[in-house]
This record gives sequence, structure tokens and C-alpha cells, in this order.
Amino acid sequence: MQPHMHAARILVASNRGPVSYKQDADGRLTAGRGGGGLVSGLSAMDRDAGAVWVCTAMSEGDREAARRAGRRLDAEDTGGHRVRMLDIDPDTFAAAYNGIANSVLWFVHHLLYETPLAPVFDADFRRQWAAYEAYNTAFADALAEEAAQGAAVLVQDYHLTLVPALLRERRPDLRIGHFSHTPWAPPDYYRLLPDDVAEQVLRGILGGDRAAFLTERWAEAFADCCARVLGAEIVRGTGGTAVLFEGRTTRLGVHGLGVDADFLRERAHRPDVEERMAALREQIGPDRKAIVRVDRTELSKNIVRGLHAYRRLLEDHPEWRGEVVHVAFAYPSRQDLRVYRDYTAEVERVAREINSTFGTVDWEPVALHVKDDFARSLAAYRLADVALVNPIRDGMNLVAKEVPVVSDHGCALVLSREAGAVAELGDDALVVNPYDVEATARALHSALLMDPDERGARSKRLSVAATALPPARWFLDQLDAL
Ligand code: G6P
Repeated sequence: MQPHMHAARILVASNRGPVSYKQDADGRLTAGRGGGGLVSGLSAMDRDAGAVWVCTAMSEGDREAARRAGRRLDAEDTGGHRVRMLDIDPDTFAAAYNGIANSVLWFVHHLLYETPLAPVFDADFRRQWAAYEAYNTAFADALAEEAAQGAAVLVQDYHLTLVPALLRERRPDLRIGHFSHTPWAPPDYYRLLPDDVAEQVLRGILGGDRAAFLTERWAEAFADCCARVLGAEIVRGTGGTAVLFEGRTTRLGVHGLGVDADFLRERAHRPDVEERMAALREQIGPDRKAIVRVDRTELSKNIVRGLHAYRRLLEDHPEWRGEVVHVAFAYPSRQDLRVYRDYTAEVERVAREINSTFGTVDWEPVALHVKDDFARSLAAYRLADVALVNPIRDGMNLVAKEVPVVSDHGCALVLSREAGAVAELGDDALVVNPYDVEATARALHSALLMDPDERGARSKRLSVAATALPPARWFLDQLDAL
């Protein structure tokens, strides 16, 4: 494949891009911000470096925008990024994204296959797998066309595991890195996948020069899978860990991702956030404490067990009744999938049940909000007394890092030991086993009782740790390492 005449020296590939479009009845398109931790991290990439960002059209609005734009989207919509949005056939996209990426690979890496949800690898799975291959091939083709000789390509996440190898076949001159924003499953769990698929995913990533992860733990799990599934040789030396397989070497990297303090603090003090703070204060009521959580409504985020822990707190410590409100933001995610819709319904059901069991005329124990609103999330961060971040497993979890950075009067953090962020925040958070509802309830109780001075001091240290690795550095470090 021939490089394009406006070929780029730096390329980024991810399923979701920095922008998503909605089309109204008159055909007008409005651009909004893409969601999730990956987009937050990548948005800080150096716009001046002239990088090109290849992503997919995920909705009808996106497809229309991609068609109208031709090759590149309007930079005004994308926050100044040069973005190529691939208009992949909707059935292929749905099978690759909903089917393989979000129902299989996401579930494997987050250990979400509990018995009723356990996978059945049947003919339908095979059809989806073929779509996943086609979708990865479309990315490899576009990247091969966009990249200048010797360019650096940063491929993101579990949607695009086959891209490094496919791209290397097309363009052996490129430097290719893959980054996983999720955890990586341990070998026994990973081997749930059909053997050929388990192999192909690893071979796909090993097609790159580097494979990088958010924490040491996920990088080690990947190395273990390469050894067990492929029989690859793992070399651990002073220069880091490398995987040797079929005559090629792929170096493993660890790049933690922190938050952008300047951006967050500035954004959190704009008038729209102040307005929402006033509304939230009114909803919570005077002198009550707030336990805040902010998540996509996502099984791995463990929102239902969080609600059970809160109920347990109210049962075991009746003194908190009327004195605390659980402000839970659970924003809709991946609603094309039934398990996600069911989970959303379950979150709503349990919240209602707690409210009807404990609520009084002037106290609603759970304030559940499901409409995505970044300004309101920031408002809740500012006034939170306790933040609850209890995922079953999480690559990093940026909410745990955002809260202490914008908190007005210091916030206690209850944090799952299975979130990648625990490696950096564990010393000053109250760390819990996410399955243990009783222990989580006890941690909430201690967090609510924490002495204000101690809480302030811990919150400051959390904030320092959370901003130690700003997103711009995360991006540049990866480029340097390539
Ligand atoms: C996680 C993944 C990202 C993804 C985000 C939102 O953070 O690592 O790749 O973009 O979730 O999920 P969605 O399916 O809405 O893109």
C-alpha cells in the first residue's frame, strides 16, 4: 500500500474518537465529546505534532459526518485534532464492537463471566469473529495509507488487537505500539477463549514493537498468557520485560495515566459547575454528608454491590439515617447489549428499593442520576465527603484520581484493590475487596467518620499522586519509547 501524500509521522488508532455527532430532524449535525478514559487520555496528545487520529463512526450521526467530511473531520468539531473517521459497514461494526470487543474481550479481561453470563462459542461467535477481523483490517488499511515512511503508530485497546500484526504485514517500515487500557486476564481465565482466537489476539499484539499497559500487574498477566498460550519466551532484564516469539521481539511497557490538574480545576470552577453544585446541595440537604460515585453503567464498575454496601451501612449504623446521601451517577453505556440494559435496570431497582425501605418525607437516601453531565460530575466531586470507587476490575480508573484533585474540602476515597489506580493511591485510600459488601460498608463508615484534618491531608496526597503522570506525558512517553 502506498502512503498518502499528506502522510503523518505520528498516528493514533482507537475505536472511539474524540468526537461524536448527533443528527437532528433537519439533518443538522452537532458535535459532542467522546466518552471514557481512553479519550480523556488521548485528548491531551500534542496537536502541534500533526498526529492523525483514526477512529470509527459509531452512530448514524457519525456516519453522516464521516461521509460529509470526506477524508478528515472538521478540526473545530474535534478539538483541533486531525481525525479520520472510518465509515465501516454497520453490521460488521456491530458484530466487532458489541459482539467480540464488548461481550467477549471486555468480559474476559474484567473477569465478568459469572455462570449465567458464561460464553457460548458457537456459529454466531464465529460470524462476529470474522467481523472483528474485517474491522481490524479496515483500520490496518487506513493506517497503512496515512502513515509516512518510518512513522510511529499507537494502536489503542482491545477493539484493535489484530491491527499491529496486520499493519506490519502491510508496512514493515513502521514503528508500532499497542496500548491496553483494560486489565489483562490471567492465563487460566484468558484460556476460556477458543484456542485459535486466544492465539490470534496475542499474535496480533505481538506484531508490534511494543505492548504497553497501565500497570505492572496487567503487563505481567499478558506475558504469562504469551508464555502459556503461545509458548513464547519471556525475557526479564534491566531494560524491562520482552516477549520473544517466532524470531521477533516485542518489548512490554508500563505507562500509568494520571489526570490533568490544570484543566480539571479550571473546568470545575466555571459557572455551569457552580450552578449544579447549588442544585446538588439542595437535593442532598443541609449538613448531610455525601457519598459520591460516578461511573458508566458498566458491570465491571460494580455499582449494584456498592448500593448493597450502602444499604448495609444504613442497617448497621442507623445513626447515619437522615445524615448521609449516596449520590450515584450511573451514565448509560453500551445499551445495545442486553446485559448492559439489564444491569442498568438492576441499578435502578436496587436504588428504588433502598429509597422505599429507608426514605422519609425529607430524606432520599440514594440520589441516582443517569443523564450524562460532565459539569454535574465535577460539581459532585467538589462537594463529596466520600468517593466510592469499587470496580471488580479496572485498568486504572480515573474517577478515583479526579475526585481528590477538584475536591473543595478534602474527600475520603474508598477504593477497590482491583483497580489499577490502587498501585498509586493505595496508601491514602481505604482499600476494599470489591466483592465484600460487608467490608465495603465498614470502609464507608470509617470514611464518613474520618477526622477532617486527616481527611484533608490524605486527600492532598491523593491529589499529588493522581497528577504525577499527566496525560500529555503518558502520550509522549509512549512515543519516546517507540
Ligand atoms: C473503556 C475502554 C475504552 C472505551 C471506554 C468507553 O475506558 O478502555 O476503550 O472507549 O471504556 O466505552 P465505549 O464502549 O463507550 O467506547
